[in-house]
Amino acid sequence: MKLKVLGSAAGGGYPQWNCNCPMCDGFRRGTINAQARTQSSIAISSNSIDWVLFNTSPDILTQIQQCGVLQPARNLRDTGIASVVLMDAQIDHTTGLLMLRENKKPLRLFCTQPVREDLSVGNPLFKVLSHYCDINWQPIMLDEEEFDIEGAADVAFKPLSLTSNAPPYSPHRDKPVPGDTLGMQMRDKKTGKTLFYAPGLGEMEPHVWEAMQSSDVVLVDGTMWTNDEMISRGASQKTALAMGHLPQSGAGGMIEWLDKLPASTRKVLIHINNTNPILNEDSPERQQLTEHGIEVAMDGLEIEI
Ligand code: MLT
Ligand code: MN
Ligand code: ZN
Repeated sequence: MKLKVLGSAAGGGYPQWNCNCPMCDGFRRGTINAQARTQSSIAISSNSIDWVLFNTSPDILTQIQQCGVLQPARNLRDTGIASVVLMDAQIDHTTGLLMLRENKKPLRLFCTQPVREDLSVGNPLFKVLSHYCDINWQPIMLDEEEFDIEGAADVAFKPLSLTSNAPPYSPHRDKPVPGDTLGMQMRDKKTGKTLFYAPGLGEMEPHVWEAMQSSDVVLVDGTMWTNDEMISRGASQKTALAMGHLPQSGAGGMIEWLDKLPASTRKVLIHINNTNPILNEDSPERQQLTEHGIEVAMDGLEIEI
């Protein structure tokens, strides 16, 4: 199974258009060693022709251009994207759906019922899209052990309900229900290797920890370094935890958890917020991650299991 990181930044991207925090400003001025990143999305394939797109970022058209294999050019109108999976109903993971409106076939779209509801009522993207392209909704059931997704025949997918937060337009904002946010364990049926993906992870619940322990690669929430990062920068009143993201540093943080995984587990952070000091490759925070054997995803990163 092949995984391509299409977008490694959190909502807003990096640098964020209206932000002059030290990371965004430093990038523009060229005073820090950092790479630009588009908003959160990955693609999975088992034959390198058909792809399963996880999340549809507002940057999707740029991401498709940058990832040539998503356009196999077999017909006048064509795409390598066989299916779309949504991990939640947040703006950074769903807005790109509108950019797929020219799709010639009904769009095969996997998501949970709560996500479908948010994208039908609070933020009715499904209704708008249906004027251009039919949606072939494939419900993701939380009690599902493993299921198949068209586009990655040799991969078995297992959804996990995560505690994070629902978007502001959801009736579940600040009181999330199972299905608002998913993690996904992916098992290559041929190699037997597994990967766990969770761009929004607010709490390390036992079933999540179990999945992480049994995975060869974990590609997990790297949104913020500290819980009060946005507040201390004067960027927002929200803590990382209130937004549904476990910070990396400190007691009970992501680094502590990742340290408990076997040394052989590949540990990669994704969905990096533009305020996060780990974006600066020369920062002490980034150095700390390196010392703990933790990588930071960037756009274009390929992982094969
Ligand atoms: C999140 O991951 O918490 C959201 O995508 C934040 C946002 O709306 O940008
Ligand atoms: Mn997000
Ligand atoms: Zn910023």
